[in-house]
Amino acid sequence: MPRPQGELTIQTLAMPGDANPAGDIFGGWVLSQMDIAAAICAGQRADGRVVTVAINAMSFLLPVFVGDVLCVYTKVSKEGRTSVAIELEAWAIRGRIGEQVKVTEGVFTFVAIDDKGKPRSLPKPA
Ligand SMILES: CC(C)(COP(=O)(O)OP(=O)(O)OC[C@H]1O[C@@H](n2cnc3c(N)ncnc32)[C@H](O)[C@@H]1OP(=O)(O)O)[C@@H](O)C(=O)NCCC(=O)NCCS
Repeated sequence: MPRPQGELTIQTLAMPGDANPAGDIFGGWVLSQMDIAAAICAGQRADGRVVTVAINAMSFLLPVFVGDVLCVYTKVSKEGRTSVAIELEAWAIRGRIGEQVKVTEGVFTFVAIDDKGKPRSLPKPA
């Protein structure tokens, strides 16, 4: 039985307002939840402000439905001088209480920035 990889970073309910015209959840909403979760993870590693510089990989594996609980798991997969790559998986709990299935996966890269918006070095790992 596959299990989510990484740390549970956000959990939210897919609402009717997040649906596309066909009634399933809009991919852009899922992507946005992943960007938020990855920013939390990257911001913790960078100990401060970060910006998304790239979505290096993104796969939509299964649809998300209204009433699913979307759970986004994150982990740092690579570090550079100022950048950090975050590996993500989103899992949906069907109808809030049903089975949990992997719906997306991706890799997003963030850059730590200073108060002028310029790249700054990542702090040493805690
Ligand atoms: C992110 C930003 C500050 C980087 O500034 P920059 O002057 O291009 O910085 P650099 O060229 O020195 O690159 C900084 C780091 O980003 C990495 N990087 C740049 N582009 C990248 C890409 N497409 N994919 C992966 N990493 C990338 C570089 O490798 C470097 O990493 P390192 O220091 O760990 O080696 C700037 O591009 C920016 O402000 N972009 C807009 C960010 C934003 O608004 N995001 C939200 C979009 S809605």
